[in-house]
Amino acid sequence: MSSFRLQQTVDFIRRKISIRPQVGVILGSGLGVLAADVKKQQRLHYSELPHFPISTVEGHEGQFVFGELSGKNVALMQGRFHLYEGYSMEQVVFPVRVMKKLGVNVLLITNASGGINQEFRPGDLMLITDHLNLTGTNPLIGPNYDDIGPRFPDMSEAYDKELINIAEEVARKNNLSYRKGIYAGLIGPSYETPAEIRYLRAIGADTVGMSTVSEVIVANHAEIRVLGISCITNMAAGVLQQRLSHEEVMETANSVRNQFITLVKGVLERVNVHEGL
Ligand code: HPA
Repeated sequence: MSSFRLQQTVDFIRRKISIRPQVGVILGSGLGVLAADVKKQQRLHYSELPHFPISTVEGHEGQFVFGELSGKNVALMQGRFHLYEGYSMEQVVFPVRVMKKLGVNVLLITNASGGINQEFRPGDLMLITDHLNLTGTNPLIGPNYDDIGPRFPDMSEAYDKELINIAEEVARKNNLSYRKGIYAGLIGPSYETPAEIRYLRAIGADTVGMSTVSEVIVANHAEIRVLGISCITNMAAGVLQQRLSHEEVMETANSVRNQFITLVKGVLERVNVHEGL
């Protein structure tokens, strides 16, 4: 990562937007609808931003939406970058570093995932308690940026316990059912084989997806507190006698959007953004 390029992107955004975001929100496949609720919104398409990659997946819009949501200043990403699209690791995590420099110290990361835990059902929302980084790589490989964080960052509470407690409270108050569990992040883009799913179950994964883990590592390095919400859009390969499709993923994500929106907004309302400063 070149800190010069990072600074150029940050300066560009600062010139264009009037708010200073406190909370970052990364919206996963089919979950982009939340952007419509942002007040006083200012949008910046990724293609307008210097040094920003452009998102290519269907169902990912590819823009930042800045504004107010549930009383907080947010930087909401409608669309993210995945390793499977051919982006470099640097490109995948670049937006997280940009958000940090813009003032974000709490990040809500959402994704679509396949359910490995046999008690889970498509349409369930899972609060991520921990992850397995199975991408075979790490975004912090290379020289360490000591001004951002340490060479060997601690990952023992990668998903902030207090944010999980807040999310559970919001879910209970709103009668939303939810799960908690471990997300396995793979590189994709092929879905897993049934044998791979049995392996992932054996090593403790509850869900599987193709995003999130790299962004979470970079967020932890930069001392951003993370809440991860996974929408189980399908049962993972081999759990049911049916084939997996991106259409099913998008349909299920769409069908839970109200619960998802309630959860995210409730968390935003209650989260203390100044803590730890
Ligand atoms: N596997 C990997 N990624 C996914 C899945 C899945 O079953 N569903 C949604 N994203």
